[in-house]
Amino acid sequence: MDESFEFFCVRIVFGWGRLCSLEEEVERLKGRKVIFIVDRAVKKFVEEQDFSFDYEVFSDVEPEPEISVVDEIVDQFTFDTVVGVGGGSTLDVAKLTAVAGGEKVKALDLMEKKLPERKCKLILCPTTAGTGSEVTKLAVFKIPGREVKYVFDDESLYADTALVDPKLTISAPQHVTASSGIDALCHAIEAYTSLYSNPVSDMFAERAFRIIPNALREAYANGGNVKAKIQMAFASLLAGIAFNSAGTSLGHALGYAHNHIHNSPHGRSVGMTMPYVLQYNAIANLEKHARIARALGEEGKSLRETALKAGIGFAKLLKDVGIPYRLSDVGTSEDDVEEITERIFLSEKHVQRNPRIVRKEDVREVVRKSINGLLWEEEY
Ligand SMILES: [Fe+2]
Repeated sequence: MDESFEFFCVRIVFGWGRLCSLEEEVERLKGRKVIFIVDRAVKKFVEEQDFSFDYEVFSDVEPEPEISVVDEIVDQFTFDTVVGVGGGSTLDVAKLTAVAGGEKVKALDLMEKKLPERKCKLILCPTTAGTGSEVTKLAVFKIPGREVKYVFDDESLYADTALVDPKLTISAPQHVTASSGIDALCHAIEAYTSLYSNPVSDMFAERAFRIIPNALREAYANGGNVKAKIQMAFASLLAGIAFNSAGTSLGHALGYAHNHIHNSPHGRSVGMTMPYVLQYNAIANLEKHARIARALGEEGKSLRETALKAGIGFAKLLKDVGIPYRLSDVGTSEDDVEEITERIFLSEKHVQRNPRIVRKEDVREVVRKSINGLLWEEEY
């Protein structure tokens, strides 16, 4: 093996009911004054706990947060430790708040530069099995006056502890389980096929995409299935570690490019067009796409045929978890082809990491197929 790479992973505490370790973690970090940034759904739960440390709770994070929410928290509370409990958006707010809180600067002033070293302690507890935000150095925000969301990408955004308790995902609504689970699968697949993948990220990604197809179907079919929820929380964590190292690519770029038309949740948006991305990318790495296809239950008569079936396996999974796999089903038409194609190239880094060169004329075809649901079904 002649590969050269760097790899980093945060401290992880994982297990059913492990939220009980939170007090220990705060103590370990010598936290004195904690601000909980939580989803509304868990506010009551957090307030009912009898923590020995001093804490306050903020629960007004919108699903697609504006960056101003960070300033609102920093202005309103005094803290040396931030604990995020929620979905990806809430965790992203917690991450940036932990950086801004130690500086007393406006969050907008942190853009377009290296972030200062984080002074506040940071613990992240996901309540969905999907974004992997608890283990990444990314935080995504809407910025007033900007068409595309801004992604903070900085080591200061790594948590001190990712505390993953799958029990927190048990009450997630069915559509959230579907959307966040598909997001996790896209993270795993895109990291695995990324030009920036490495042997370590591949190990995490492959394990994740082998677990998700069955576990997600089971977790979707019965939200009370504890085993499936644990598997999904675990796989989402692995996928987060993988894409934090290798990045995501055309799947996410395309998901962002059409989202403004239908405003779907992130995972649903990225997932809807993933079958066509897989079909387009397959010939760039037949071996890896064949492994993905097999994990999705598809097998062909040759390596090429198997690899090309990955998109079909993905579409079947979408069908089972109630996510459309045709953009025309969510109000998109042929008239949108040009605009969506152009917008893909706004996600420059995603395009660079894609295993197959992304040329406008090719990707225009991918968009057209996505709109019309034209999954390749030739006579092999
Ligand atoms: Fe994602």
